[in-house]
Amino acid sequence: MVRTASMRDRIAMYNANALQIGLFGANCSSGRSATMVPERWEASWPDCLRLARLADTAGIDFMLPIARWKGYGGDTDFHGATFETITWAAGLLAATARITVFGTVHAPLFHPLIAAKALVTADHIGEGRLGVNLVVGWNEGEFEMFGIAQRDHDTRYDFAQEWLDAVKRAWTEPGEFDVDGRFLALKKVRAFPKPFGGARPVIMNAGSSPVGQAFAMRNCDAFFTATAGSRTSLEENARRVAEIKAKARAFERDIEVYTVGQVVCRPSQQEADNYYRYAIIDNADWSAIERMLELRNITPRNFSPDEYVAKRQYFAGNAIGGYPFVGTPDKVAQELAGVSKAGLRGIALSFVNYLNELPYFCDEVLPRLARLGVRHA
Ligand SMILES: Cc1cc2nc3c(=O)[nH]c(=O)nc-3n(C[C@H](O)[C@H](O)[C@H](O)COP(=O)(O)O)c2cc1C
Repeated sequence: MVRTASMRDRIAMYNANALQIGLFGANCSSGRSATMVPERWEASWPDCLRLARLADTAGIDFMLPIARWKGYGGDTDFHGATFETITWAAGLLAATARITVFGTVHAPLFHPLIAAKALVTADHIGEGRLGVNLVVGWNEGEFEMFGIAQRDHDTRYDFAQEWLDAVKRAWTEPGEFDVDGRFLALKKVRAFPKPFGGARPVIMNAGSSPVGQAFAMRNCDAFFTATAGSRTSLEENARRVAEIKAKARAFERDIEVYTVGQVVCRPSQQEADNYYRYAIIDNADWSAIERMLELRNITPRNFSPDEYVAKRQYFAGNAIGGYPFVGTPDKVAQELAGVSKAGLRGIALSFVNYLNELPYFCDEVLPRLARLGVRHA
């Protein structure tokens, strides 16, 4: 098959599904579940490869890794073992035929010309199936580990703008060019080849602050928000999505809105509820969760004991993996169709053990989503 790799095809991930479904966080140990259960995700390369091939064959649209450089600690050292995402994407793109795979770049940690070339390389390997998640970083410990001082919050996005402009020029300029900016001074740059097929990788961002969101509106094709899943009503989600799209239009851009979620799908509601409780609550890695909360300045010193316990519980059950879709194939499919009806273009899902659980999801939930009219069979 000869791919055209137009921007339109890339954004649609080369298919006509109204609701794009992806896998989130499979390059990190424990994925998106801070749990001690022995079947938790190890994120070994053979497992990642098997998962990508399975997802590719079953019709999953994309894989979104997390760029994490340092584990959170705790009993399981949550995210202690992670694959670098561009090289991970390159390996998976070589082994698959239709799925889009994202690489996630911390702009302050990658020289823009190295990033531009690494991304182009992966894009050619995947014949136009690479996506890019551009992040500016929020975890100070990671930057300390690199010996790099983080800029103040809003300046991170000023830097990212200059960085991304340089990357885009490296992807498009037919000849030599210079960058003489506030942060970057690049002389007589030559960058070939260009991305596959005359377009460029889909770019996404997930900033939640006003400055982060404005960055996404200005520059990105897809915006991820953790707060417009099924957590609230369909109407509330629809309102939020419409608001994001309207803001993007003010920048004269169309932007697709995505969210994240965690799936526990079983033949009966009781089985699903029991497993969710067992893996996510009863066997939560509370010490890792406490470390993550501390990074967000949520500690027993700042909150009353009751409030703190409630926040811990909420974080374990709803925040790390996103909204939990827990139930039978009918219920999970209905809820995912609701995400589509609210105007969201897609969702990146996680499972406690992606490989064990994905076949049942693909066999049972994907056909229901086709019957509900949000995906093709
Ligand atoms: C779907 C999703 C994926 C993200 N991926 C990463 C990541 O891989 N690495 C990272 O450091 N931050 C990641 N983030 C964090 C965001 O990039 C961003 O820093 C965070 O939402 C805070 O927003 P702000 O930068 O506007 O304050 C992700 C967030 C979401 C919702």
